[in-house]
Amino acid sequence: MRSIVILISGRGSNMEAIVRAAAAEQWPARICAVISNRADASGLAFAQAHGIATEVVANRDYASRDQFDAALRERIDAYRPDLVVLAGFMRILTTPFVDHYRGRMLNIHPSLLPSFPGMATHRQALAVGVKLHGATVHFVTPDLDHGPIVAQACVPVLEDDSEEALAARVLEQEHLIYPRAVRWFVQGRLALQGASVRLAAADTVVTDTPSVIAI
Ligand code: GRF
Repeated sequence: MRSIVILISGRGSNMEAIVRAAAAEQWPARICAVISNRADASGLAFAQAHGIATEVVANRDYASRDQFDAALRERIDAYRPDLVVLAGFMRILTTPFVDHYRGRMLNIHPSLLPSFPGMATHRQALAVGVKLHGATVHFVTPDLDHGPIVAQACVPVLEDDSEEALAARVLEQEHLIYPRAVRWFVQGRLALQGASVRLAAADTVVTDTPSVIAI
């Protein structure tokens, strides 16, 4: 049985998708804790309602990034996780923290990396006029939003799209690819090998919507 700790900062809809998939698909894994850097993260209520331990490690209580990351690491490691899942965790993490979880920390980013790292990805996509946009699951490395790619899903950018409409279209795909990638990891099919992703017998899926899930 693998142990997972999920970090959130807000709504937690990706966390919710992972918790639901783990139960529905009977993963060989347990979500031990959901930890937030914000006490007002609405996703905490969902986790509590599902019997998952929740904790808040508030970044504003720490004088420096190093101190916050050290405290966060201590709380995470109390659960001895095999995998740390960043699910809308809105913090830039220090290199020692990221290195500590090398090969066992995943993130989802709402763009087709390496395009549009950072914030406001949907606005950036609309501003540039790309025709395809999407989401990426990747292993976390110290280089923000640049880790080895595990899975991507893309959606069309429609004429007259708004940032909100595009974000919702992408989010729907996030909820498909992130649980899938986490499942691969807990099934022992996904690993980081040096700077590359090793994936055994991945299920590549072309959905019936105009989006494509690819590895
Ligand atoms: C998602 O779009 C995720 O890709 C990004 O932040 C958003 C978090 O949404 N990193 P949620 O908290 O999972 O609902």
